[in-house]
Amino acid sequence: MSDSYSLLILPGDGIGPEVMTEVVKVIDWLQANRGLSFDISHGLVGGSSYDAHGTPLTDETMAKAQAVDAVLLGAVGGPKYDDLDFSVKPERGLLRLRKDMDLYANLRPAQCFDALADFSSLKRDVVAGLDILIVRELTSGVYFGEPRGIHADNNSDNEGGRVGINTQRYTSGEIRRVARSAFELARRRNNKVCSMEKANVMESGILWREEVQWVRDNEYPEVELTHMYADNGLMQLVRKPGQFDVILTDNLFGDLLSDAAAMLTGSLGMLPSASLGKPMANGRPKALYEPVHGSAPDIAGQGKANPIACILSFAMALRFSFDQGAAADALERAVEKVLADGVRTADLMGPEGGTPVSTSEMGDRIVAALAQA
Ligand code: NAI
Ligand code: MG
Repeated sequence: MSDSYSLLILPGDGIGPEVMTEVVKVIDWLQANRGLSFDISHGLVGGSSYDAHGTPLTDETMAKAQAVDAVLLGAVGGPKYDDLDFSVKPERGLLRLRKDMDLYANLRPAQCFDALADFSSLKRDVVAGLDILIVRELTSGVYFGEPRGIHADNNSDNEGGRVGINTQRYTSGEIRRVARSAFELARRRNNKVCSMEKANVMESGILWREEVQWVRDNEYPEVELTHMYADNGLMQLVRKPGQFDVILTDNLFGDLLSDAAAMLTGSLGMLPSASLGKPMANGRPKALYEPVHGSAPDIAGQGKANPIACILSFAMALRFSFDQGAAADALERAVEKVLADGVRTADLMGPEGGTPVSTSEMGDRIVAALAQA
């Protein structure tokens, strides 16, 4: 009935395996009831991989990640691994995946579910119905540019005698490829992109603006492109977020903008993400999907974790890797329905209180709603 999609599941540490169990329920349901077929393999990453193999990511798992249509990851890390050498820390497993797969476009949706609008740091009427997508360049810019370091600087008027250096560096090719990702995504949404940089004070910002405009003019003329200085952009995001649809920005500004956007929409347990790379031979981008949250050691093993961020990350995989937009929509509607029915994990309990459901009950309710979506 349909193609089979290959998916590598890496549950990771802490609440990672708990939330992933709920995603697997969703996958099983889609296979049994919607004719979708997934070729699923499982692997270890982070502390769980270190425990089994002495490394946070084995070469075999890395090779598998390179070969599949999509990787779905839970979370890595935990206090048990805090004293490990830097080279084998759990986070290194995730960083290696991102780097070796060359995942240069990081997608962070900020979507406000009506039932949770009161969790926002902004007023309900400013955020209700909000649905924006931030595309952040992830593999270049000031976090990677050379030269970098801390050096002696014995200039006589430099108190302390040291200098710290980082370099914002973007090539036209790096800008164009992430711009294409943003325009492709805009095509599937409302054909609207706002690109943010600081072209007023940074040459890399001038280049960014010129190259993004070039890609738009030559390849995506139907997309409406605007440019904004990133400081104003952050202000506008907090003032009137509904004016944006797709926001395209660099690594540094994207770090700030996506964290701020997250707080517009509520709990960490609700936030999905995708990281995309070059198109593979089958035309699909290399892709890693993961919730924004970490391994939450404070609640791990207690059945309290909210699985929605991980489930919505899988919805992004359905949409961007598997071309199953209808199934993605249905899954998002199921989440919305369950929230509207007042079903809440502990992290979503408001001041009015109530009885939270467990991780597993939340997953069951979403699957039940999916049957009606
Ligand atoms: P965290 O995101 O794990 O937790 C922050 C707070 O949010 C905690 O109180 C936690 O209970 C809560 N929370 C997070 N996800 C939740 C969910 N799904 N449902 C309900 N509550 C949730 O961040 P933290 O505490 O700074 O880091 C814990 C560990 O996770 C560290 O080892 C850190 O390095 C790692 N980490 C891993 C990430 C990843 O795998 N991508 C990202 C962030 C942190
Ligand atoms: Mg950040």
